Amino acid sequence: MKGDSKRGWRAETLAVHLGLTSDAATGAIAPPIHMSTTFERDADGGYARGWVYSRSSNPTRDALEGALASLHGASACASFSSGSAAASAVFRALPPGSRVIVPDDMYHGLRALLREALEPAGLHVSSVDLSDTARLDEALTSDTRLVWIETPSNPLLRITDVAAVAEAARRHGERLGERVAVAVDATWTPPGWADPFALGADVVVHATTKYLAGHSDVLGGAVVARSEADPLFERVRMLQRHEGAVPSPFECWLTLRGLRTLPYRLRAHAHNAAAVAAFLVAHERVGAVHYPGLPEHPGHDVAMRQMDEAGGMLSFRLPGGEAAAFDVLARLRLVRRATSLGGVESLIEHRASVEHASGTTPRDLVRMSVGIEHPLDLIDDLAQALGTRWDTP
Ligand SMILES: Cc1ncc(COP(=O)(O)O)c(C=O)c1O
Repeated sequence: MKGDSKRGWRAETLAVHLGLTSDAATGAIAPPIHMSTTFERDADGGYARGWVYSRSSNPTRDALEGALASLHGASACASFSSGSAAASAVFRALPPGSRVIVPDDMYHGLRALLREALEPAGLHVSSVDLSDTARLDEALTSDTRLVWIETPSNPLLRITDVAAVAEAARRHGERLGERVAVAVDATWTPPGWADPFALGADVVVHATTKYLAGHSDVLGGAVVARSEADPLFERVRMLQRHEGAVPSPFECWLTLRGLRTLPYRLRAHAHNAAAVAAFLVAHERVGAVHYPGLPEHPGHDVAMRQMDEAGGMLSFRLPGGEAAAFDVLARLRLVRRATSLGGVESLIEHRASVEHASGTTPRDLVRMSVGIEHPLDLIDDLAQALGTRWDTP
């Protein structure tokens, strides 16, 4: 996460003070929630204060968008009512007839959105293993206008080399005389764990539902760009304003509140995930463990080059297959069985059974969002669920 170089603030300080200006009318330290949908015109018919109608812009939403842009060291952000709405706006901002290249392992909800809504509307989609950059070169076509990256990928934790993809897209665009943009879905790598702009991304997309809001109590999404004048971002902003798929002022406020503790939460998530991964790797009932912080992970070197920490998500395989996975999940007492991720509490799920039947997720795979509880309590719970004694050090 970037600090604020102008003010000399480090990331933790910036996060606490994002959008905090004491309220002129009351002196309140916590920012107000502006529920008003409409704003009064001046006597001369103008809008000197800048706000007209809340579908277009709202002071609480502006505070959140300003905060999210600052966290990325960027200057433009459009917030949405979910991560999926944010992603959808980026796909739909592309010119008609465009092709988008997506990873073959990615969030299944976005894959479904592409398959069920956007492909029938004329978007072309190629699904490629982007953890192998050579595959991208083969997949780039004359109609490609966007490469969509998710790294680590959901749920196999594959790693894509963002800088290599951005360079390949730029070179391809130069050959075509067209822009081939790169979008990174950074839901699993919020500011503090990675900086996709520094690696060459054009836009960064988040489900703020996850780590950014951080408490499993608010849905939201965001598209961040270096500048409001980025042509792809301009169209995203246009869709946001015309369609109004925006978070309510209360949801913006909750997300802004979540951001204040982001650097400290991320530290705990990553520390705990590393401890859980090390425990699982050493466990005789566990098969492969997918966590980029492990030296044996095939994407470890790239991950460590482009991430500040290895993140809070992992998945692992149980040699007994689906039955063994459900058996272990049923015995857990602390880790909660639920989909989603990035909240303070640890969540675990049998991933294949929440995805579309046509999905490719292995049936023996369990995905875990490691929370900020004490790591030894998490390991104790996993140990008893796996049917082994584990002596807490
Ligand atoms: C990587 C990724 N992107 C996007 C989304 C969609 O977010 P939302 O549920 O807020 O629509 C998710 C949700 O799990 C996700 O994991």
